[in-house]
Amino acid sequence: MNFEGFQLTGKNALVTGSYRGLGAAIAVALARAGANVGCHGRDSKYAPACEEIHRAGSKTFYHLADLADPKSYASLIEKTISEFGSIDILVNNAGTIRRSPAAEYPAEYWNELITVNLTAVFQLSQLAGRHMLDRGKGGKILNIASLLSFQGGILVPAYAAAKGGVAQLTKALANEWASKGINVNAIAPGYMATENTEALRNDPVRSRQILERIPAARWGEPSDIAGAAIFLCSSASDYIHGHVLAVDGGWLGR
Ligand SMILES: NC(=O)c1ccc[n+]([C@@H]2O[C@H](COP(=O)([O-])OP(=O)(O)OC[C@H]3O[C@@H](n4cnc5c(N)ncnc54)[C@H](OP(=O)(O)O)[C@@H]3O)[C@@H](O)[C@H]2O)c1
Repeated sequence: MNFEGFQLTGKNALVTGSYRGLGAAIAVALARAGANVGCHGRDSKYAPACEEIHRAGSKTFYHLADLADPKSYASLIEKTISEFGSIDILVNNAGTIRRSPAAEYPAEYWNELITVNLTAVFQLSQLAGRHMLDRGKGGKILNIASLLSFQGGILVPAYAAAKGGVAQLTKALANEWASKGINVNAIAPGYMATENTEALRNDPVRSRQILERIPAARWGEPSDIAGAAIFLCSSASDYIHGHVLAVDGGWLGR
C-alpha cells in the first residue's frame, strides 16, 4: 500500500455538525486529502471550516439543518448532490449530549438525543446509501460513535443508548452494503477537548478522574481524529467493514 490509497481527490463528502469541534477538524482533514466537502451546522454564520476548505483548494458549501427535525434530512443529502454531482462520503458526526440523573431524566432530553444522535444517523445513511447503491460506485459512511458505545457512562443514559445504537447500526449497515462496495465504519473518540466535554473539564474531580485513566496522559484534540477519518474515508480501508475504531489515547485498553 502506498500513500495514494489515502488520497480523496475527486471524492465528494458531507460532514454533519462541522461548524465546530470534531466535525470541523474532520471536514478540513478530508479537504486537505483532496475531497470536496460540504459543511453543515445550525449557526447562521458561515462555518469557519469552509474557509479552510477553500484554502485547501476544494469546493465547499454550508447548509443549515436542525437534525432534531427529521424533515431536514433529505435537504442535506439533496444539497450535497446538487452542489457536487454526487455523494461519495458521508460522515455522521453531529451529536449532542444532555446530563441528568436517570431517575429524573426528562423525556424531552431522551427524545432529542435519540433523534439527533441515532435516528439522524440512520436516515442520513439510508438516503446517502440509496444514492450510492443507485450509482453503483460504492462509497464510505463514517459514523462518530463514542466510548459510550461500549460503556454506560454516568448521568447520560440517552447518550449511551444512542451511541450504543450507532455502533450496532454501523455493523448492521455494513452487513448489507459491504458487497456493494460501500464501507460503513465508525470512530469512537475518547475524551476530546470540545464543547461536548466542557462540563466534564470544568468539574475538577471528574476532570482529574478522567485524565488519570487515559494512558496517553492528555485529553484528545480535534486534530487527533483526522488521520483515522481520512483512513476510513479512503480506499486504504476498502476491506474494513462494520468496525468501530477507538481513537481514545488508550482508554479502552485500560
Ligand atoms: N468531544 C468528545 O469527547 C466526544 C467523545 C465521543 C464522541 N463524541 C461525538 O463526536 C461528535 C462531535 O462532537 P464534538 O465533541 O465535536 O461536540 P461539539 O463541539 O458540541 O459539536 C457538535 C456538533 O454537532 C452539531 N449538532 C448538535 N446538535 C445538533 C442538531 N440538533 N442539529 C444539527 N447539528 C447539531 C453542533 O452544531 P452547532 O454548532 O450548530 O451546535 C456541532 O457542530 C458527536 O457525535 C459527539 O457525540 C465526542
